[in-house]
Amino acid sequence: MDVVVELMAAYKICLSFIKYDYMLRRNFLQLSSLGLYGISLSSFTSKRLGSIRKPIVISTWDAGIEANKAAWAVLKKGGRALDAVEQGVRVTESSQNCCVGLGANPDRDGYVTLDASIMDEYSNCGSVAYLERIKHPVSVARRVMEKTPHVMLVGSGAQQFAIEEGFPLEEQKLSEEAEKTYKNWLIKSEYKPVINIENSKGHGPFNPPFPGSNPLNHDTIGMIALDANGNLSGSCTTSGMAFKMRGRVGDSPIIGAGLFVDNEVGAATATGQGEDIIRIAGSHTVVELMRQGLHPEEACRKAVERIIRIKGAAKSKEIQVGFIALNKRGEYGGYCIQKGFSYAVCYADDKNFLEPGKHIL
Ligand code: GLY
Repeated sequence: MDVVVELMAAYKICLSFIKYDYMLRRNFLQLSSLGLYGISLSSFTSKRLGSIRKPIVISTWDAGIEANKAAWAVLKKGGRALDAVEQGVRVTESSQNCCVGLGANPDRDGYVTLDASIMDEYSNCGSVAYLERIKHPVSVARRVMEKTPHVMLVGSGAQQFAIEEGFPLEEQKLSEEAEKTYKNWLIKSEYKPVINIENSKGHGPFNPPFPGSNPLNHDTIGMIALDANGNLSGSCTTSGMAFKMRGRVGDSPIIGAGLFVDNEVGAATATGQGEDIIRIAGSHTVVELMRQGLHPEEACRKAVERIIRIKGAAKSKEIQVGFIALNKRGEYGGYCIQKGFSYAVCYADDKNFLEPGKHIL
């Protein structure tokens, strides 16, 4: 009888190997059939880790380095990924930069409006959009998640809720840098050329950097983390597209677009032109691709390819979109449309470094 049980177990193991091998081959064939990029099976498998790497946190752009430090302080003590991703991006929200927090560039009418989201290991999520005069939209998003029956609050309702929750209402005022950039923009008040100008300068998405600032320190910050208990969470926060139409909301507060976490599989977050990320439910797409067995990097790449397919190569050259992803094993990756995107990876006190996002165009 024991022999039969053992034979059955061996048979099951063989079957799962055959299935895994088939999945790898199928992914390889799908990638090859695109005929565009020459991905090899070995580049896919070589990134696989032998053991689970946790805790770990990754976040978009070079500003992610500072943000990761705050997240790491939580993670290294065995803290929850949710606390880490909130504390991490609050650093960027507090800093003076062009694209996150109240110091950032305004909309075309001169108002800074903020979008943010957060998601935990139980698929709880919260977000705020079009929020004005509140310094930490990510923390308001968390309160929406934890204290209301809703997922998303916007505009004056989100602000009212924030005030009721004790968040101070900040002065209605542009930062000095944003004021300068805005006045400069007002001279022509052109919308589309801003995108082109940024791209031609290699500044990624759509936010002209403040004069004299680090040109790479820009755009949305999205952060995803795996804690010591093996649980995932993510956050995303931005002031959105500079000089956007009043009322415009991007991907960052849209769960599934700017951020998605599935604690069985992995987490993903996005940066760049929100409209195109929303079109493919970008972060959800990346997580679903990981569910099918793709490495995080390959999942990000496929999502970027989908955007390029929909938009066409010519129009895709005018925009930037980047995804980063992390799976349950602590494997990570990032991909973007064009050169210039980077993301920060941290899994030890002395391991907090920038990875260049691989690009397609
Ligand atoms: N990805 C940020 C935005 O489109 O607003």
